[in-house]
Amino acid sequence: MQSSSNSSQSTGRRSSLKNRLVLFGLVAALFLFVVGCSKDGQSTWEAFGPVAQKQLDLFNVLLWVMVAVFIIVESVLVYAIVRYRRRPGDAKPPQIHGNNTLEITLTIIPTILVLGLGIWSVFTLFDLEDPPEGGPDALQVNVTGHQWWFEFEYPDAGKGKKIITANEMVIPVDRPIEISLESDDVIHSFWVPKLAGKLDMVPTHVNTMWFQADSDKLKEDLPVTLYGQCAELCGLSHALMRFRVTVMEQDDFDSWAADYGAPPAISDKAKRGKDLFTANCSLCHSITGPDDPAGTALKLKVFLESSPGDTVPVPAPNLTDLRTRQTLAAGITDLTEETLHDWIRNPEDFKPGNYMSERAVLYQNGPANLTDDEIDSLIGYLLDLR
Ligand code: CUA
Repeated sequence: MQSSSNSSQSTGRRSSLKNRLVLFGLVAALFLFVVGCSKDGQSTWEAFGPVAQKQLDLFNVLLWVMVAVFIIVESVLVYAIVRYRRRPGDAKPPQIHGNNTLEITLTIIPTILVLGLGIWSVFTLFDLEDPPEGGPDALQVNVTGHQWWFEFEYPDAGKGKKIITANEMVIPVDRPIEISLESDDVIHSFWVPKLAGKLDMVPTHVNTMWFQADSDKLKEDLPVTLYGQCAELCGLSHALMRFRVTVMEQDDFDSWAADYGAPPAISDKAKRGKDLFTANCSLCHSITGPDDPAGTALKLKVFLESSPGDTVPVPAPNLTDLRTRQTLAAGITDLTEETLHDWIRNPEDFKPGNYMSERAVLYQNGPANLTDDEIDSLIGYLLDLR
């Protein structure tokens, strides 16, 4: 009786071990699958510029040195466990304490490795501090993180022209981009994996970084759009806080900058949309060029002093030239008349917790207090069917 219960216990243990191995195998396969998927998206294994490349080189050195150390140490360990395991009838082995040569050797090797890798890391950090001297002039872009979208300000995009846009950054190829990072609310993190490592966006503190898009592969077929995202948990819709970086020839960049904010011709339908925009949207969103700095400061002050549920103006994406953008709502969906319609009708369906749904008078009873026809006029105005 007892022996049969023992054997069923050991069969149970074996099958639970087998289940665990299968689960481990599935998780490992899923991990490899996900890593494989990211090859063409936000992979850090493919660098499109010098900053990302130097970081990738450092990572590779660290990774492969550590892999070598791991394999050597584990091999010796496994060999010792198997070769010198206790067998039935073995006498107690001789007890040894201390071996100066071995201990000194085992201290010196890791010290050399850790110091070497540490020095390499620090030199890479210094090396990436500033764009190389003697290259083309850097383009300055100030990026502000908001719950849950990115604001891009070009103080001088060329010929002194100031541009403010949202969620889609446009940069010229082969030119250093100097970036200042800040946040209006909580801590976010700015990350374009193929151009540079991530850096935090902190309220009341400016962090700076730079990158340059210039790899041969990138230049084969310009313009190229790269993916970025917020990399710091920043609230309910953190995972929906994405952005794009479009790399183009300097000439195309210059035309983009020159065309920014050109007043469009307004159709009759769009005229009605313009009135709706003025009545419902214009306290938060600008659409005729860069936001006015005093207005931005006031909105931020009112927003920071407000409480959930207060219907007050909040910092919001600048909508100038919205028609030229590819995506909507911080890169979570393609920008089309249909998606824009659905977004305006009920943003909460796309981005839970967004401030537009929470604070705008238009959404105090849930979906927008507008007819489909009114939303279409608004889209006519926004997308320059205006
Ligand atoms: Cu912003 Cu996560």
